[in-house]
Amino acid sequence: MGGMTRREFVVSAGVASLAVAGCARRVARPAGAMAPGTETLRGAAAKSGFLVGCAVDVHRLRDTPAYAALIAAQANLVVAESEMKFGPMRPSPTTFFWDDADFLAAFAEQHGMKLRGHNFVWHRQLPPWFAGYVTPANAKQVLVEHIRAVGGRFRGRVHSWDVVNEAIQISDGLPEGMRDSPWQKVLPGYIDVAFREARAVDPHALLVYNDYGIESDRPDAEAKRQAVLALVRGMQRRGVPIDAVGVQSHITAGQMYGPGLKAFLAEVKAMGLKVLLTEMDVNDRELGPDVAMRDRVVAETYASYLGMTLSDRNVIALLTWGITDRYTWLNGEDNRKDGLHNRCLPFDEDLRPKPAFGAELAAVERR
Ligand code: XIL
Repeated sequence: MGGMTRREFVVSAGVASLAVAGCARRVARPAGAMAPGTETLRGAAAKSGFLVGCAVDVHRLRDTPAYAALIAAQANLVVAESEMKFGPMRPSPTTFFWDDADFLAAFAEQHGMKLRGHNFVWHRQLPPWFAGYVTPANAKQVLVEHIRAVGGRFRGRVHSWDVVNEAIQISDGLPEGMRDSPWQKVLPGYIDVAFREARAVDPHALLVYNDYGIESDRPDAEAKRQAVLALVRGMQRRGVPIDAVGVQSHITAGQMYGPGLKAFLAEVKAMGLKVLLTEMDVNDRELGPDVAMRDRVVAETYASYLGMTLSDRNVIALLTWGITDRYTWLNGEDNRKDGLHNRCLPFDEDLRPKPAFGAELAAVERR
């Protein structure tokens, strides 16, 4: 944080631009270095029992000590960015690849962190054998066996499982807004099957439905929020276990997020479910190239979004999708047209805190 005092980083949602503006003056520090005595996200979260953390690239966790040290210092909750998904875990229909998931679970335990499971069911990152092997005749068995094996191996060690990820895609035109996904095609009741099996195999993990595109006040986001609420209501009516909704929070720098999401959070709470912000990043692709300007607007967006969402005590956790711009997935997908690296996360490419870190820290401290 350069020569700045921590006070200068205390950004309240309302006056974000004022406080954040000063952060552009920060001086360079060696990679990964924090100003001595600087408060950390996990330190701030510990005071209120809040959960804060990030998605982790397990390969880099293994071979990049500065990255591992940063995560150990900042997070009390971690999730594998890809390594616990169906494809990466399943080299073949009859085998499992455990090394990466085991490594992350051990890392989390060593550092006193909680672990999220992401995910049992998703339409992406399925293995190459999936399409030729899974049919309506065997799909239920394949899904149940997967959840039994993976959920069983980590039973009692997972804070929360994203049981189903991104099941709604209204433009696909199916009833209830269901996505026309590979699982939907072979097993239309897959959501109920997955949640029931997840509860049976690990009764202590919170069971989460996780989705994106439900943050903004645009009509498409409102329609998707309503579809998610209807999905969850239906599950509850049928007695299907679910404990929380994950709001991914892949949001856009410079946009305001307000009444639509707030009403959704209230509705989820009224249904007796918790909320987790599971994959936050603030995409700067709409902004010009100037670094100081981008860092300021990204930080303002962190401040206003988190000011609104974290003031709701029913939101129990915040994870960013990565921790450093060096490794953000947005450099591979959904990236800037000018080819510059996205500055969407709290730490820069040299693992130094950016204004967005100050904004996140301030929001966590207010819990
Ligand atoms: C992304 C990873 O970050 C990428 O590395 C991978 O290639 C594709 O998946 N929503 C999700 C995450 O739920 O699993 C996705 O992660 C990002 C969008």
